[in-house]
Amino acid sequence: ATIADASIQRGQGGETHQIATGKTPVLTTRQGVPVSDDQNSLKIGTRGPTLMEDFHFREKIFHFDHERIPERVVHARGFGAHGFFETYESLADITRADIFQRAGEKTPAFVRFSTVAGNKGSADLARDVRGFAVKLYTQEGNWDIVGNNIPVFFIQDAIKFPDLIHAAKQEPDRGFPQAQTAHDNFWDFISLMPESINMALWIMSDRTIPRSFRFMEGFGVHTFRLINAEGKSTYVKFHWKPKLGMQSVAWNEAVKLNGADPDFHRRDLWDAIQAGDYPEWELGLQLFDDAFADEFEFDILDATKIIPEERVPIRRVGRLVLDRTVDNFFNETEQVAFQTGNIVPGVDFTNDPLLQGRNFSYLDTQLKRLGSPNFNDLPINAPKCPFHTFQQDGHMTLNNPKGRANYEPNSWGPAGGPRETPKGFQTFPAEEAGERRRARGELFADHYSQARQFYISQTEIEQTHIKDAFTFELSKVERPDIRARVVSHLVNVDEDLAGKVADGLGMELPAAAEPARAVMTDLDPS
Ligand code: HEM
Repeated sequence: ATIADASIQRGQGGETHQIATGKTPVLTTRQGVPVSDDQNSLKIGTRGPTLMEDFHFREKIFHFDHERIPERVVHARGFGAHGFFETYESLADITRADIFQRAGEKTPAFVRFSTVAGNKGSADLARDVRGFAVKLYTQEGNWDIVGNNIPVFFIQDAIKFPDLIHAAKQEPDRGFPQAQTAHDNFWDFISLMPESINMALWIMSDRTIPRSFRFMEGFGVHTFRLINAEGKSTYVKFHWKPKLGMQSVAWNEAVKLNGADPDFHRRDLWDAIQAGDYPEWELGLQLFDDAFADEFEFDILDATKIIPEERVPIRRVGRLVLDRTVDNFFNETEQVAFQTGNIVPGVDFTNDPLLQGRNFSYLDTQLKRLGSPNFNDLPINAPKCPFHTFQQDGHMTLNNPKGRANYEPNSWGPAGGPRETPKGFQTFPAEEAGERRRARGELFADHYSQARQFYISQTEIEQTHIKDAFTFELSKVERPDIRARVVSHLVNVDEDLAGKVADGLGMELPAAAEPARAVMTDLDPS
């Protein structure tokens, strides 16, 4: 509404009162009581104390006082948009997932892009991994592919996630730096976790300073399963391929942009969609079977490794289009709850120990963050297909079961509420056997080959950027022993790269890092 939509009146103290004229709605309290004066609290006289009975004032301040909810423990800064997924062709031979049954079918989608380590108010162009979380509102329930723009991850086992994130975020005594990668704790952790070296190469590449969300790839990272109607399982890795291709900014551009416009990425996505320039990605599947998994030189359950596209080509099976900005940032982008555990019939997990841990973590953290076990009733989280449960009550209940029966089995016949169906979700009956142990498979142990493969696959200019990024980030690390330990891993990746980084840091080239356990014995900071 413009000022012209209200008639202006002046109060005794000269304050402005904009009076509803019929073109704008009447301002009310949350109880619907029309408000006559939103400029002055209720006082004794004009200079006396404020009265407790001012329910309008109390309600307004009470609500304001409670506006904040905890930011996400990771991926706090994000930006979302609505759109749809369109299936190119039926994949019924591979999966019974409803979304893949009919060519041309469109499924509503919501996507949230994010940085990982920065707080909610941090700058968009930090050197960081980007989250690429997709919620697909299928006709058989919500399916979330909670991915990143990098196909590998830092750690192999979710038990290390709190350590990784503690090391990446601000240091606990000083509360800085905001620049996630450029500090001692982060590189200390990386240097002691050789499994993170492959990821370290990827994050020092230009992929972590994308030009915009529209120019990023996305990856489900883990190996999942697709299950067809006969119960046959096919392993799958999920890829999002941007129609615009991949583009990044240069580091000096990132630094300038962060100062000039910390909202650069959100503004870009908002502006593009508002202008009708809808960004689009194709969903690619890498599909493989047990025979490939057995012959592959890495473990398909190891999230620090890719499966090269040369080995298992990508099949493009649909497109994701973002064509609608949110109506309200908090309602949608903040309150959306993605979960790796949200899968649908036709999709299943594997034993990837990172994925297994994530399946616990998201639900757990979202109860804390959103405050009620009923967060799935928020419109952004609710399925768009019919849903019926016997869950009830709790804070902010909206969808209690109707009628007398709130349990099953029951003998109330058709009035007794929902029933099971044999067509429902069925866990793939994978055989499991073995001792209970805290251990990893032998194939998890090669931390350098894929890092080398990644580095040598880059163009010369991209390799220079990786070298520059390592040199710059490590130059911010105060302790020489941490710098040396990181470079000692780089020696195992590529000696030329290690030599150039050592030169840039003005240090001797250290000996190649020994396997993890040997490195761990030398922890004296002196
Ligand atoms: C949030 C991706 C590993 C715990 C997120 C988000 C993404 C993501 C995209 C943001 C979701 C949003 O936009 O709301 C990934 C990927 C991982 C990974 C690709 C590895 C392949 C982990 C692990 C854990 C974890 C190992 C814990 C064991 C969390 C938590 C949140 C989160 C607690 C905040 C969720 C919320 O508050 O709603 N992750 N993550 N993540 N992730 Fe992960």
